[in-house]
Amino acid sequence: MDLEKREISAETITPLFEVAFGHRPAVVAAAPGRVNLIGEHTDYNEGFVLPMALNNINVVAAAPSPTGKHRWIGGPGEEMIELETAETAQPGEPFWSNYVRGVITMLERRGIKVPAVDLFIDSNVPRGGGLSSSAAFEVSVCTALAALCGADVSPTDRALIGQATEHEFVNVPCGIMDQFISANGRRDHALMLDCRDLSYKLIPMSDPAVSVLVIDSAVKHSLADGGYAARRKNCEDACAILGVHSLREASLEQLEAKKVELGDLCYRRARHVIGENLRVAAFAEAVQKGDWNAAGVAMRGSHASLRDDFEVSCAEVDTLVSLADTIPAAASVYGARMTGGGFGGCIVALVKSADVQTVAEQMIEGYRNALGIETDYLITRPGEGARVLYQA
Ligand code: GLA
Repeated sequence: MDLEKREISAETITPLFEVAFGHRPAVVAAAPGRVNLIGEHTDYNEGFVLPMALNNINVVAAAPSPTGKHRWIGGPGEEMIELETAETAQPGEPFWSNYVRGVITMLERRGIKVPAVDLFIDSNVPRGGGLSSSAAFEVSVCTALAALCGADVSPTDRALIGQATEHEFVNVPCGIMDQFISANGRRDHALMLDCRDLSYKLIPMSDPAVSVLVIDSAVKHSLADGGYAARRKNCEDACAILGVHSLREASLEQLEAKKVELGDLCYRRARHVIGENLRVAAFAEAVQKGDWNAAGVAMRGSHASLRDDFEVSCAEVDTLVSLADTIPAAASVYGARMTGGGFGGCIVALVKSADVQTVAEQMIEGYRNALGIETDYLITRPGEGARVLYQA
């Protein structure tokens, strides 16, 4: 994965659209990738998550197609694909077209008729690194198409459309976190989401003294590989034994009382989820007080639990997280943890801004020395959620 720093905007995509299709876009929309600060594998358990939007975005330029057929281009230099309007009702080739087919289908299920469209897509959200490039894709396409159709689709509805696209067109049984933050993120705020009822609270994170550092493990991450679905199943099994509708309803006391019936695996999976919900609350409170050390404690606890109880980390990611404690500049790191679905992907750390560049460089060097892997990082702050950048 290349943690891309290329700037993209309405200004960069418009000429690409014009050259490809011979007319101007009617709408340009954007939606960001995300990094989850804490609350991992809790969303599909009706729990709490606390992600923030990145400044890396997926941008979509769109206009009605004069040919009566859909014409879509998945990125600069890529070939145009053509589809009849009836073809978007089911998944098909190429694979990436499913994100667009799904969004069109979900809009139509809501009674919004989408005409044949010309679409040009560009993105600087790193792919396959657990930074939700697909959520950014779905939510930006949905934002563009809703604007094009003059339809009022709320940010939360756009998130649900993105999630339904994953479930039905991409075959990824994801929760709602990624699409939700992509649709609802705010600059300089993290977002604490209650996945039970989708109510949320924006948490200011504008302290210039603290930076968010994202480092890629360079280990490929794919949610379609089965580990994710297997964890969901473990959680459902634990619910059945605990006699609850979701792990959100279970307490640590209930868990201990059923320890034997649960068996080691389900016990540990459930312990992660129940404990993680408590850590999200502790983290949110710490950030609101500006107590970055306490926020770091919650992050460290989250990583240990994901590694040992939920078993979704991997050796490379664990190496990166432990480097945050052992590099010479370790005192400038408040906390670090894996972020996203796991099995590779990125880590996220909260770091003193004055030293963040040094920390990043020492981490990269330490990782190279430990595992011989060359990788990259992003230093960032919470970015803005989905928006229309231009409308004719
Ligand atoms: C992926 C999924 C999310 C969430 C995380 C784990 O990013 O898309 O819904 O389950 O994994 O927290």
